[in-house]
Amino acid sequence: MTSRERFLAACRQKKLQRPPIWIMRQAGRYLPEYRVLKEKHSFLELVKTPELATEVTLQPLKRFPLDAAIIFSDILIIPEALGQSYHFREEGGIGMDFILDSSDKVNALDSSNIQEKLSYLGKAIKLTRNAIGIDKALLGFGGAPWTLATYMVEGGSSKDFTRIKSLAYQQPLLFNQLMEKVTHALIELFKLQIASGADAIQIFDSWGSICSGIDYWEHSLRWIKTIIDALPEDFPIILFAKGMSHHAENLLKTGAKILSLDWSVNMQQFVNTLPTSCAIQGNLDPVILNTTPDIVRSNALKLLDQMQSYPGYIFNLGHGILPEAKIENVEMLIETVCNYPSKVDV
Ligand code: CP3
Repeated sequence: MTSRERFLAACRQKKLQRPPIWIMRQAGRYLPEYRVLKEKHSFLELVKTPELATEVTLQPLKRFPLDAAIIFSDILIIPEALGQSYHFREEGGIGMDFILDSSDKVNALDSSNIQEKLSYLGKAIKLTRNAIGIDKALLGFGGAPWTLATYMVEGGSSKDFTRIKSLAYQQPLLFNQLMEKVTHALIELFKLQIASGADAIQIFDSWGSICSGIDYWEHSLRWIKTIIDALPEDFPIILFAKGMSHHAENLLKTGAKILSLDWSVNMQQFVNTLPTSCAIQGNLDPVILNTTPDIVRSNALKLLDQMQSYPGYIFNLGHGILPEAKIENVEMLIETVCNYPSKVDV
């Protein structure tokens, strides 16, 4: 079975001898070869130059026998394509070039020709697909409309999220207008990724947990449903709604067939309470990769044992890998998953 077949089988809830494994932000700062490229190019240059984005995507695959890669890109290319650019703040975090704080500014967002504006991403996916062949799976991704709207309306990374929440509560028509534009742009983005060769799409609702529970469907999930409804039926869509696993029933109502879980979830308890079956991805705490190989191995085995009999499990971290992750720990993690269960000490 090739890595790609293994990944797609897990997405379709097949029981496998061992789960497929991939790691988010695998092209992150923990890899020296990535840091070398970052000395010569800015992050956005890497994202927007297809050859460079391909090179960065391939870096972890050259080092580790992962089953899948996620294309090197960023969720904030959508606000950028709509006319709201961004930068990295000196003190860390994201700054948008302006705050979206009036109906004029929402009206001025230009949701036309999205695929043309993002053609660099289509090229990067095609180049990457050619380079990795059809034996490895390749993921596309994007932010959930709600998560993107938080960056756009807050003007970047935020502490209290009062602007976006006030907009949703106080000016629902304007909020909906913004969400319609962002949702439309995301549909175009995902169609482009699928046409260019992505095997699956992961949608990141990284800031879903700031929604009040009673409004989560209305403010976030219903827009994700609109997106999934517009994509080819049965195309594998993975939904990562950080901190929102207790909304599983509604997460599945979006049409997503694979849920990606953050590290806070006890996977065994979670799968026992699932309302309907779905594939599950997750959820090793990324901080474990900053520790030692022994700790990595024992924690990975604990998780693998929990999920052993679950049909449709993809091994993954509970969030992106941290810059402090140690390469020897990543090696140990992948070795542990790939040898499971045959080399487990009894
Ligand atoms: O594995 C991969 O290479 C996939 C690439 C990937 C990146 N961003 C590259 C990246 C993915 C899947 C993302 C998603 C993303 N981007 C999310 C959703 C996931 C999550 O983290 O919850 C969000 C919210 C963003 C926006 C964003 N981009 C943030 C918050 C940051 C960090 C800013 C900081 O303070 O450092 C980025 C930068 C970013 N995106 C990096 C990478 C590899 C680090 C860039 C660098 O410093 O080299």
